[in-house]
Amino acid sequence: MNSSTSSSIHTDLDVAKLPLHVAVIMDGNGRWAKQRLFNRIKGHEKGVQTVREIVRTSREIGIAHLTLYAFSTENWQRPKYEIDALMALLVKFLKSEKKEMMDKNIRLNAIGQIERLPKNVQQELDKIMVLTKKNSGMQLNLALSYGGRWEIVQMVRRIALKVKDGQIDADLITPEIVSKHLCTNSIPDPDLLIRTSGEMRISNFLLWQIAYTEIYVTDTLWPDFTKDEFLSIIKTYQQRERRFGGVGE
Ligand code: IPE
Ligand code: IPE
Ligand code: MG
Repeated sequence: MNSSTSSSIHTDLDVAKLPLHVAVIMDGNGRWAKQRLFNRIKGHEKGVQTVREIVRTSREIGIAHLTLYAFSTENWQRPKYEIDALMALLVKFLKSEKKEMMDKNIRLNAIGQIERLPKNVQQELDKIMVLTKKNSGMQLNLALSYGGRWEIVQMVRRIALKVKDGQIDADLITPEIVSKHLCTNSIPDPDLLIRTSGEMRISNFLLWQIAYTEIYVTDTLWPDFTKDEFLSIIKTYQQRERRFGGVGE
């Protein structure tokens, strides 16, 4: 599609019905590389370009929160050379995007087991989180060494300690209290979850938060995913009727 087609999709969007929070399981980098007889790392490199395009587009159309699943707690099982390459790409991405994040008023936030990441990744993340702390145009949440079950376990531990200390009454624990003890405590639940590469699974992403999230799975592999497809998915989302267990209109 050319840019005029893309801007027509753009203007088709109902600004009043924009998802406040879009979450993405960026999957299919390895298969993209394999199809081309490349090393998997080439797929991850190409995937970073898609990240840039989707971050830009989200900011452009006015999404408040974009959460990208970049590395799961289970991804630590991958070969060391692949993990090292992913971490190196992440540092490179953070360094190269710093200026654009400031120019475009984007705040960076990391969720997950941050202390498990290599020191240089942690340092780069800290730097850019401090730098972009006051930005209010959009929040980009990077899920790194993130797992929904880990997050739930750490929430239970934190609440249990508060119950033990008498700060919380066990009988008065509510869904709101649970949400406040997750790493997404200041982030609204996702309205839309997109997964690329066709797998019909959640892979341990935002388990609590997606209770009423609209799900869209596309067969497109992440490195082939485009701005146009992203915009057309948001259009599809805007046509869905969200009932939240009620009877609708
Ligand atoms: C997603 O692509 C990136 C990460 C999980 C880090 P994959 O590397 O999972 O690609 P496939 O699923 O093997 O194609
Ligand atoms: C999910 O993709 C995790 C990320 C995109 C970071 P995976 O490729 O790890 O998931 P599975 O193994 O296919 O479920
Ligand atoms: Mg995968």
